[in-house]
Amino acid sequence: MKVKTFSVPEIKIPTDFAEFGAERQPSTDVAGCENCKVSENALEAIKASTPSMLIDHWQSQDKQLRRELGNLHGVKPEQVFLTAGALGGIIYTFDIFADQNTRVGLLTPDFPGFRHYAQRARSQIETLESKTFPFTHSSKDITDFIKKKDICLFITSNPSAVTGTIREKDEIEAILKANPETMHIIDEADSIYPDLSAAQLANRYDNSMFLGSFSKFYGLSGLRIGYLITPPDYINALEKMINPIELTSVAILAARHALRDINYQTETQKRVEENLKLLEGTCQDTSYKIVPGSKCFASYIWADDSTEDPGKALEKEGIKINNGSYFGLPKGGRINLSDKRKISEVAEAIRRIHSR
Ligand SMILES: Cc1ncc(COP(=O)(O)O)c(C=O)c1O
Repeated sequence: MKVKTFSVPEIKIPTDFAEFGAERQPSTDVAGCENCKVSENALEAIKASTPSMLIDHWQSQDKQLRRELGNLHGVKPEQVFLTAGALGGIIYTFDIFADQNTRVGLLTPDFPGFRHYAQRARSQIETLESKTFPFTHSSKDITDFIKKKDICLFITSNPSAVTGTIREKDEIEAILKANPETMHIIDEADSIYPDLSAAQLANRYDNSMFLGSFSKFYGLSGLRIGYLITPPDYINALEKMINPIELTSVAILAARHALRDINYQTETQKRVEENLKLLEGTCQDTSYKIVPGSKCFASYIWADDSTEDPGKALEKEGIKINNGSYFGLPKGGRINLSDKRKISEVAEAIRRIHSR
């Protein structure tokens, strides 16, 4: 019998890709969600690469990195699995938990990539929408949605990859408790405050799994490294399913260094806080609003219907933001708070727009 092909719509990733040899656009691009700086310690370590790092296959489940991530999140090293970015973690969670009988619960707005993996698993998808400013879904709305739609697998970003807002640990715990039969995947890829991680809950709730990334806070998108934190119950399944050569030597080495570079991390957090303050201050007394409470690189700019879409108005000023349509929103968009120079340029553009 002839084979049939199966495919789903391509993944929407709200970030442009760099390409060797390609020129970068000169516009002020704040559409991505990565750090604008790298840990110098990580860079130095890569510069000192040895031939063996290129020649050999490397054990991807690096013991030291698992131990240090375990310490950071208050879990055992065996509960940590290293993956090719948080995307790798998403793929494994769908591999081990989802099939065509699984009802998957998604939020709108949220990281758009989740839908793609639910479709690949041929799952049934249900969506809970919140399309009015500030685009929050209350915990009650989420738990009611999970109950009403009999959701088996719920996945969401925390902090939100759209607005940057975060649900704190006790709120996540309440959601886990409310629907003990539902598996909850909490994707913390965008986090820049490890202290705010709820991953420790994996010790107590077997209906939770947490994803992390070295792409954003740790500045290593180009190396493709992240991790997942599992309750003890699924260690065995993951050990069997994980690709033992998932990661590159360079990624493991750089991640070890970036994770220990506390100065780099503190500087990043301070920079983001200052940039958020500048952006919020600039929007005050204008027709633009920033979703309050961002705790990562993502912030969301919005305006009501009396004003031109901020995304379009900023584009005319040479500023590229991540259009709301990526996330299922009709206007506004996400602004990356990482870069001081770029945020100053965004602030100047907002002032120009409102001085006309
Ligand atoms: C919520 C979320 N998950 C996953 C990813 C992908 O991250 P990574 O580069 O670690 O695969 C992103 C970033 O694009 C994200 O925001």
